[in-house]
Amino acid sequence: MTTSTAAHAAAAALADSAAYAEAVDTATQAAAAYYATGESTLDDDAYDRLVRGIAAYEQAHPGEMSAASPTGKVAGGTAVGDVPHTVPMLSLDNVFSAEQLQSWAASVERRIGRPVEQWSVEPKLDGLAIAARYEHGRLARLVTRGDGSAGEDVSHAIGTVTGLPNRLTQPVTLEVRGEVLMTNEQFEQANTVRTAHGGAPFANPRNGAAGTLRAKDREYTVEMTFFGYGALPLPATGEALAEQLGEWPHSRLMAYVAGLGVHTAETTAVAPRTLTEVDDIQARVEEIGALRPELPFGIDGIVIKADLAADQAAAGSGSRAPRWAIAYKLPAVEKVTTLLGVEWNVGRTGAIAPRAVLEPVEIDGSTVSYATLHNPADITRRDLRIGDRVMVYKAGDIIPRIEAPVAHLRTGDEQPIVFPEVCPQCGSDIDTSEQRWRCVRGRDCRLVASLSYAAGRDQLDIEGLGVTRVVQLVEAGLVTDLADLFTLSRSRLLELERMGETSTDNLLAAIEGAKRRPLSRVFCALGVRGTGRSMSRRIARHFATMEHIRAADAEALQQVDGIGVEKAALVVAELAELGPLIDRLIAAGVSMTEPGATPPAEGGDGNDDPAADAGPLDGMTVVVTGAMTGALEKLSRNQMNELVERAGGKSSSSVSKRTSLLVAGENAGSKREKAEQLGTRLVTPDEFAELVADLLDQNG
Ligand code: IVH
Repeated sequence: MTTSTAAHAAAAALADSAAYAEAVDTATQAAAAYYATGESTLDDDAYDRLVRGIAAYEQAHPGEMSAASPTGKVAGGTAVGDVPHTVPMLSLDNVFSAEQLQSWAASVERRIGRPVEQWSVEPKLDGLAIAARYEHGRLARLVTRGDGSAGEDVSHAIGTVTGLPNRLTQPVTLEVRGEVLMTNEQFEQANTVRTAHGGAPFANPRNGAAGTLRAKDREYTVEMTFFGYGALPLPATGEALAEQLGEWPHSRLMAYVAGLGVHTAETTAVAPRTLTEVDDIQARVEEIGALRPELPFGIDGIVIKADLAADQAAAGSGSRAPRWAIAYKLPAVEKVTTLLGVEWNVGRTGAIAPRAVLEPVEIDGSTVSYATLHNPADITRRDLRIGDRVMVYKAGDIIPRIEAPVAHLRTGDEQPIVFPEVCPQCGSDIDTSEQRWRCVRGRDCRLVASLSYAAGRDQLDIEGLGVTRVVQLVEAGLVTDLADLFTLSRSRLLELERMGETSTDNLLAAIEGAKRRPLSRVFCALGVRGTGRSMSRRIARHFATMEHIRAADAEALQQVDGIGVEKAALVVAELAELGPLIDRLIAAGVSMTEPGATPPAEGGDGNDDPAADAGPLDGMTVVVTGAMTGALEKLSRNQMNELVERAGGKSSSSVSKRTSLLVAGENAGSKREKAEQLGTRLVTPDEFAELVADLLDQNG
């Protein structure tokens, strides 16, 4: 458990020794739960207040200090393990403001009696500390931090942690230390796989990493990512290397570690910087704070370290934390609030999803009023009740999630959550055979929503077919599914209210135009569960025709980037369900091919013909931001992404080291700044239009 910025709030006031004993108990339990499974029973702020209350009481009553007290201990003194660390794995002390940073830096310099030569300023990764021992370049052992002096052997996780190679680029013996975490993408992926196996979703990425690291015999594997932040010699390390590891500045050491093939924060937008002035450190802290919501992984602060080995040695270490490093904490992304109710919403595809209504709570700058509850089984597993105090997690663009009810805050007045017995939308039966409940009428239950979606600008783009008109068509009985749209007769339309000759002809012409949309748009319009716009484009580009998509089995579908075992099975099932509808669309003359794409080779395992994909953006990852102008002015963001992909590129929404090109339109904001920092190639909309001129012409 860590402390956090709301630490400006008062420490818990402990009136007497009984209150002290209870506080020690509560804090120890919370820390134990947190370090065992990543699931805490107190949020960071509450834990921090409690521990500071305990510390204050101990200072006032030194004679009453309990041996169980979490103060001054790594991991609150709770973690277990039997693999001794060669050098203790310490924790970090915290600061929360510019003033505290300033006075901490001054205290280090006073202690060593000279200015610190330079500071390394790096992200504080929000995961679990791991020591990775390499012997002759081979990954031999993974050990958790444990109580700091001994940790748990989690070597079974070797091979599931991206960024921790089995073999280094050199046959050296050393220990790399760093943080194991789940990126946001890995977290979503882990929860998809986990819920498909009937497990409870992880509430947050750190939780996911903690649970996954410990799990031994799961039938599925989920990936995690390692970020190295330190290295040290092992007893068997050669003398020359051991000496260098002990003498190099931290920044030099980390460059060496990266050179060995280990992943570090160097490749991220928040890469470590070496700075000399405290004002510059503060500026970088603010910069990292601003980049946080867009990062593809969680950080909970910024770590500032004296960079030179000599400065570190002079400052020394305490029993819990080094004196040469500090964590500058960012606001907590977890808060406790009250579960006020549960809403049951029926989606476009008939899926019935519970959503938690929360007492609004401010988390990291935004107000959270709703959180996802996944499915009914999940509610049961978590034993949630209305009125519960619940831990809510929200970071970056991750959908807010409920972690768990805070059991010790229950009053007894909490009420059970009532599950619907019939579809809340149409009153039909509910198919409860899968984890995710669904109205037995499927898409027909939300016919208006699914037709409006299909007609939308990013799908079939049928002008004049807004929700009102769809309602009118459905109520008149003219349309019962998507295919009916393509067989509407002029005379029947003319009978409708507010449908004169002009509107009727315009609508029919727009529907006629929709028959010529690329397959990616048609596929998206079908609303296949588990796929959205960008996945539809990937599928369409990979298979080129609907015939090939329908002929694909789950294995063939997995060749598409982003489709795993579970999604492949879902898509196959959905296509079978949608078969009759697709047949009728084909019969009505709707085009089912993707211009410019070639089908996968017969018997081959995917569309890997290089010539087929060669376009002006071949192999490039492109991000579009700001307002488009000139030839691109009328293109929506979705159309820009389509253009990028037709030109052989990959479209992405966030800038990272992997971004090859940023198309920066008017009023491009933080993405442009980030790209400039990273030295990413920037082009204006006009320059981009030049690049893809051939494809624009084709577009007409
Ligand atoms: S240095 C002796 N650097 O934060 C120095 N730690 O709250 C201790 N952490 O135990 C570690 N990012 O698990 C360091 N860039 C970073 C870090 C980092 C995350 C973790 C680490 C540490 C904890 C302390």
